[in-house]
Amino acid sequence: MATQQWNPETYEKNARFVSDLGAGVVDLLAPKAGERILDLGCGDGALTEKLVAAGCRVVAVDASAEQIAGAVKRGLDARIARAEALPFDHEFDAVFSNAVLHWIKDADGVVASVARALKPGGRFVAEFGGAGCIATIRSALTAALERRGLDARSVDPWYFPTDLEYAKKLKAHGFTVRFITLFPRPTPLPGEAAAWLETFAQPFLGAVAAADRPALIAEVCDAMRPALYSPDTGWTADYIRLRFAAERAR
Ligand SMILES: C[S@@+](CC[C@H](N)C(=O)[O-])C[C@H]1O[C@@H](n2cnc3c(N)ncnc32)[C@H](O)[C@@H]1O
Repeated sequence: MATQQWNPETYEKNARFVSDLGAGVVDLLAPKAGERILDLGCGDGALTEKLVAAGCRVVAVDASAEQIAGAVKRGLDARIARAEALPFDHEFDAVFSNAVLHWIKDADGVVASVARALKPGGRFVAEFGGAGCIATIRSALTAALERRGLDARSVDPWYFPTDLEYAKKLKAHGFTVRFITLFPRPTPLPGEAAAWLETFAQPFLGAVAAADRPALIAEVCDAMRPALYSPDTGWTADYIRLRFAAERAR
């Protein structure tokens, strides 16, 4: 099964909007100088830099060796680690995460791992895809694979919970939820929808042979065009985000 690969050069070209739009999550975190903060799923470190600029002592982790190499190039303390198995023990004032948690199906594993990494009373502040996120894109990909007799559900990498579902999970792991909201965030894309698919939908594209991928991509773009494309504004992805701030028990 094809897995999702991350690469700092492609990320810079096709996905810079992800960290740009994460600035609001940094505001919700309200980092204070001197705090020790973990950036969970730091990618190439663009948002980690903002936390460092706020005077925090930041450790950044990501499962992708390529993204970590990009973050290290920025001079950050960046290490390879999986969110579900963090090697930290009650040592951070806050865990921050932007656009990562929907890539991990073991959500309980992540929340338990974050709870272990935090000091008592520490904050967990994050944003990721919530229920209904990219519904048009996801159903176009699913339909295109099903037309080929393939099981799209077995390759679909995304976990998009509702706010109620995720709040319940946080509480079950000892967090008090201070704030949680699910909101639509239609997102203008920097280029063609094909580039978005190649950057973010690799598990679906990898379900067909390389030679068949251009036809699959064209078919998915055609299906999405009426809902997501306008000649005036280009492509807009139908993102829905789940943003929250929670506090670990003291
Ligand atoms: C869309 S990027 C977001 C990166 C960064 N937070 C930003 O805002 O630009 C998602 C990142 O999540 C990372 N990721 C996916 N699954 C992960 C896991 N299980 N543990 C840690 N990082 C993971 C990927 O490697 C990728 O760098």
